[in-house]
Amino acid sequence: MTSKEIRQSFLDFFASKNHKIVPSAPMVIKDDPTLMFTNAGMNQFKNIILGNDPIKYSRIADSQKCLRVSGKHNDLEEVGHDTYHHTMFEMLGNWSFGDYFKKEALAWAWEFLTEVLKLDKDRLYVSVFEGNPAENVPFDQEAFDIWKQYVSEDRIILGNKKDNFWEMGDQGPCGPCSEIHIDLRTDAERAKVSGRDLVNADHPQVVEIWNNVFMEFNRKADGSLEKLPAQHVDTGMGFERLCMAMQNVTSNYDTDVFTPLIAKVEEITGLKYTNNQQPTTSNQEKINIAIRVIVDHVRAVAFAIADGQLPSNTGAGYVIRRILRRAIRYGFTFLNTKEPFINKLVEVLANQMGEFFPEIKSQQQLVTNVIREEEASFLRTLEQGLQLLDKVVAETSGKEVSGEKVFELYDTFGFPKDLTALILKEKGYTFNEDDFEAELQKQKARSRAASEVATGDWHILVDGNVEKFVGYDQTENEVKITRYRKIDSKKDGILYQIVLDATPFYPEGGGQVGDKGHLYTHEGVVEI
Ligand code: SER
Repeated sequence: MTSKEIRQSFLDFFASKNHKIVPSAPMVIKDDPTLMFTNAGMNQFKNIILGNDPIKYSRIADSQKCLRVSGKHNDLEEVGHDTYHHTMFEMLGNWSFGDYFKKEALAWAWEFLTEVLKLDKDRLYVSVFEGNPAENVPFDQEAFDIWKQYVSEDRIILGNKKDNFWEMGDQGPCGPCSEIHIDLRTDAERAKVSGRDLVNADHPQVVEIWNNVFMEFNRKADGSLEKLPAQHVDTGMGFERLCMAMQNVTSNYDTDVFTPLIAKVEEITGLKYTNNQQPTTSNQEKINIAIRVIVDHVRAVAFAIADGQLPSNTGAGYVIRRILRRAIRYGFTFLNTKEPFINKLVEVLANQMGEFFPEIKSQQQLVTNVIREEEASFLRTLEQGLQLLDKVVAETSGKEVSGEKVFELYDTFGFPKDLTALILKEKGYTFNEDDFEAELQKQKARSRAASEVATGDWHILVDGNVEKFVGYDQTENEVKITRYRKIDSKKDGILYQIVLDATPFYPEGGGQVGDKGHLYTHEGVVEI
């Protein structure tokens, strides 16, 4: 099955179980202070789960764009180095809001995987929550008993709070969960070591594919658990991993979610990507990692921009800029790309995903332009910055680089500190975080000082409120200054504010652009 068919079969299956199919929410979140980006399918339903919003549909399914690059769920460091983590990924999900619970959720998950998709039952393992006395949450006997109907007991693994109690963030909905893992190793490997021993052990071919969360609690700001008004089901299946299982490959990057993007990188760079089955050298492995990073990151950046988040120097915009700069540098160093090229992947992405996510098609031009500009601007300083970094490393005795130098790279060359940290790590170095922070604070103080202004008192030349607006009838008028004051700005120098007795200039406001023109005096012309 193609990835498109796999996605559709999931939605069709849950539609047949009376689920309303809804579109993905934007990946960029504007109205939840606890989150910057959508990190799970359930985010858009948070208020329903908490009981704050009414339940419109009690059964919903979708494929949600998620980004896990900050906060509680952050996979950024793994991306590219392994073959199954991503910054942006699609999460296939089905929800019950106060409707069905564990019995139906687990039965349908099993039915979909083994009867619809016909995945081999012998390769599947499941996990249930072992309980946590400190939190006063018991062992999930119910889920355990349900699973016993479908799998032998030795395929059911008891998991701790880290693996089997899912929380959206430090606060918010949470509950025990039951995961389904798949073992994609060869028969020979499976005969040697049981898949059971490799579940949750970071094995690239024994991976979690589906998480069924039984939402029962709200984690409060003080850390305590509060029972939710109703019980809900929140499930999330890693779409790219499911495609890996269905397409008989052992890396997400060998699925048709990524192969068209990889082919485009190969075409642009003239280099080859070698997949898991092919032999590799250490240099080829660096190329492989760089290609994986780039084809992963372009999706995150492109969809974030399509959803309205432009790269910038603060907040969510800086997260996007950092991801893109990381990709640019991987290309520059390992693929020898000295010109903007990542923007050229947007077309491939739009063709591939535009049918299901129309925003990437409708914003294709903007996304391409923004990425191209970002690439061009970072490439202008990247080479010099890398040279400086080499010099700094050469001059460093010991393995810790000075934080001041890392700050200089950030401030002058636009190197996000985590990018510098990554490059240093490749060379076996770290840097002094405290010194970096101190420099950053000093810079902030300097720019605060630079924006300081001293405002003088008004000098009154004409008493009373004589000023009037004449712009409805006139565009020119003879005027007198009625008052003025002096502004001493560290940034802009000495300025004066003046008030005129009559003015035809309409001010900016209410969406209206202010008028432009000139003020003619005996001493010269002032531009307004
Ligand atoms: N919220 C759960 C997760 O993100 C299940 O959807 O894994």
